Amino acid sequence: MQSTDTQGQGIYLVTGGAGFIGSNFIRHMIKRYTNARIICFDALTYAGNIENLDELTGNPNYHFVHGDVANPRDVQDVFEQFNPDYIVHFAAESHVDRSILDSDIFVRTNVMGTQVLLDFARMNEARRFLQVSTDEVYGSLGATGLFSETSPLAPNSPYSASKTAADLFVRVAHKTHGLDVVTTRCSNNYGPYQFPEKLIPLMIHNALNDKPLPVYGDGMNVRDWIYVGDHCRAIDMVLHGGRAGEIYNIGADSERTTLDIVRVILRQLGKPESLIEFVTDRPGHDWRYAIDASKMRNELGWKPEVDFDEGMTRTVEWYLDHPDWIENIVTGAYRNYIKTMYEDRE
Ligand code: NAD
Ligand code: DAU
Repeated sequence: MQSTDTQGQGIYLVTGGAGFIGSNFIRHMIKRYTNARIICFDALTYAGNIENLDELTGNPNYHFVHGDVANPRDVQDVFEQFNPDYIVHFAAESHVDRSILDSDIFVRTNVMGTQVLLDFARMNEARRFLQVSTDEVYGSLGATGLFSETSPLAPNSPYSASKTAADLFVRVAHKTHGLDVVTTRCSNNYGPYQFPEKLIPLMIHNALNDKPLPVYGDGMNVRDWIYVGDHCRAIDMVLHGGRAGEIYNIGADSERTTLDIVRVILRQLGKPESLIEFVTDRPGHDWRYAIDASKMRNELGWKPEVDFDEGMTRTVEWYLDHPDWIENIVTGAYRNYIKTMYEDRE
């Protein structure tokens, strides 16, 4: 059952709240619970964008704290100042391709950052710690089958290895130290405010600018897509209704190949398929992800509300309506990354 407004009462430390999913989650929480106090704790890396939460400026239930999850001093300060009841841990380096170029920061942020937060959550007797994890910890599927919560952990990229390690520290905090933890493992998200290094916003941006759409390998890799708002509702439900120590897979039964996605975008924007350019494959590219979300449905009554066609229409419209948001990003350091990432592949 969806949690009620009174259950939403409390102080929520949302790490990585200035990123894609975190900022959508904060908007969800502020809208849904009038008595929730939200602390967005974010280092504002290249992927963090305080503009994502502009509309909350001046809202008495929302506070922004600039800090690094891997820096114990920053974490101590935020715990001392706010004494949060709940920690919802989104902060991470999140892009697989970047982790292949340089994995150091993935270990620091994703593994050490999680451990630092867990220690402070325990010392401050927080009510619950929610680890936002990913289906990538399970590795890759063949043509059939689904990832369940008991699928073996078999990460294939530095990113997914760091998320797996973090998940194990979360498990340990529960088993050894008795901290109340829950872990969610979601499939590929899409929707407003996604950074344009990820497939869908990158392809929308390139298509709008009549630039080539770089498809890795043969474009037949499969991802299981979910609209970001459905993921945020699921996190809310696990946070307030999930069982301590449990893992919950989240997915919306929307498997699509890369080529399916790219074609939908081109159709929606009225652009030609000749923009598609096949480029060298991602090393260690997982072939297929697909989620069995029956535990979420059966235990918590969650189900996705936005189907793929509706979600893609909303997403493309959002990017069309926010040209300044993307233009502010596609400058400087991000432009250099695109050059490093794609120039040798063409
Ligand atoms: P994102 O890259 O858009 O946002 C990450 C946020 O974390 C940014 O605001 C960034 O500034 C912040 N951050 C990075 N390092 C930090 C640090 N050291 N201290 C504090 N803040 C820091 O990522 P996203 O796509 O919104 O993903 C959020 C979480 O959800 C991640 O943990 C990711 O693994 C997980 N996840 C993402 C997806 C997806 O499809 N995007 C799916 C499943 C799970
Ligand atoms: O499954 C959940 C994961 O989904 C999250 O944990 C990650 O944080 C998130 O980045 C995402 O990882 P993916 O690697 O699946 O997403 P990405 O958008 O990078 O790529 C999606 C698919 O599209 C993948 O098969 C690679 C392909 N691709 C991607 C890019 C950026 C291309 O063919 N060309 C591209 O330029």
